[in-house]
Amino acid sequence: MNLYDRIPNNVNLSEDKKLQRALEKWLPNYLDWWREMGPEGFQEKDVWLRTAIDVGSEGWAHFDYVKMPEYRWGIFLEPPQPDAKVGFGDNYGRPAYQEVPGEFRNALRRIIVTQGDTEPASVEQQRQLGKTSPSLYDLRNLFQVNVEEGRHLWAMVYLLHGYFGRDGRDEADELLERRSGNPDKPRILEAFNQPCDDWLNFFAFTMFTDRDGKYQLSALAESGFEPLARTCQFMLTEEAHHMFVGDTGLGRVVRRTAQLMKQGDVRELGGIPLDIVQKYINFWFSYSLDLFGGEISSNSADFFAAGLKGRYKERDQYKEHTAANQTFTMSVVEDGQLKTREVPLRNALNEVLRGEYVKDCEKGLARWNKVLADEGASERLYLPNPRFHRHVGEFAGHTFDLQGNLISREEFEQRKSEWLPAMEDREYVRSLMHPVFEPGKIANWIAPPAAGIKGKPFEFEYVRL
Ligand SMILES: [Fe+2]
Ligand SMILES: [Fe+2]
Repeated sequence: MNLYDRIPNNVNLSEDKKLQRALEKWLPNYLDWWREMGPEGFQEKDVWLRTAIDVGSEGWAHFDYVKMPEYRWGIFLEPPQPDAKVGFGDNYGRPAYQEVPGEFRNALRRIIVTQGDTEPASVEQQRQLGKTSPSLYDLRNLFQVNVEEGRHLWAMVYLLHGYFGRDGRDEADELLERRSGNPDKPRILEAFNQPCDDWLNFFAFTMFTDRDGKYQLSALAESGFEPLARTCQFMLTEEAHHMFVGDTGLGRVVRRTAQLMKQGDVRELGGIPLDIVQKYINFWFSYSLDLFGGEISSNSADFFAAGLKGRYKERDQYKEHTAANQTFTMSVVEDGQLKTREVPLRNALNEVLRGEYVKDCEKGLARWNKVLADEGASERLYLPNPRFHRHVGEFAGHTFDLQGNLISREEFEQRKSEWLPAMEDREYVRSLMHPVFEPGKIANWIAPPAAGIKGKPFEFEYVRL
């Protein structure tokens, strides 16, 4: 097999012997990881998958039956812009960095490793889900998400191998050694250590946690370190499908639940009651908010000053790109009370990015509420206040209700099972999870999709079992 077939790429890998050797050494370890931690029980099946074989509009979405271990994980960057400039921060307007600037080396490596670690983590979290897929359509979507997260790992590993020398190689190896949820060698971020063992979790995860990815990648897609920017730009094209899976998946659960509500008791009819859906929203939304980091952060200020990590749509949305000498007002807890505080804008950029994310999530809620309205239900779903159930930042260590009111720990503990999935909720959801593998059939707790994938009907045999 020639190099391009083994590692499809648009980075001229065949001309960089050193990088080629490093990646060819990493490849078998990656495949070992995939076989050990990738989707269990389906490795030899033909799955109708989208493969990126080029970044052009023709090549990036090539559909065919593929066995997952033979998926062509490649390295694709958006083509370079002639005279790319640093788009924000203290070096605004200077030529973009083509190599890692020495003074930012550690910060940049940390950004890449943290992003890279989430990619295999989510594959690990989702590895048992295939066995209980509600339809072949959903099974295929799960595997599509999984192989693309694998490719995102490749993208980050390319940057580590290509730009960080020895310590980059060590970091790339460690990305295959940590394991989601393993107490001895956990993944870096907590949302990626949470179990994702039923399909309601999966849809909430791809809706809320993959959407965090969209905002992190967007902030890096305008990075002054050009190889990172171009890598993230291409990853974003794939990420859109992951959020589609979560957004429409939850929408289909909500539709089915609303239909069953008209017939009688949702539980008796084998559906997922809306209050359980709401608890899963509360859980994954709050964990995903943590991924943006502390509300007040010197790292965010340093990354922005260095031109490494910008705001969402920095180029199009802002006129002023230094964010210096400005302030941002936010709430914090002081002396046991909620107070407002003004902080330098650069130190508040995690919170600014989180705000963009919350607005985007609200659009998803509006779509699900429209489904409820269309089905004639009067109930509505909502997002909890961003202070609720936080483990990172200003509100960690304090307890809030869903409206964001500060409450005592005792009250929180007493009411927790109204707000977050309790053991019995999880067990109930799990009790509904039985595989439906007949083409065109679907489980009782979820509505079929409005359309199939890439013009194929829902009845298409998306996975040959
Ligand atoms: Fe990803
Ligand atoms: Fe994703």
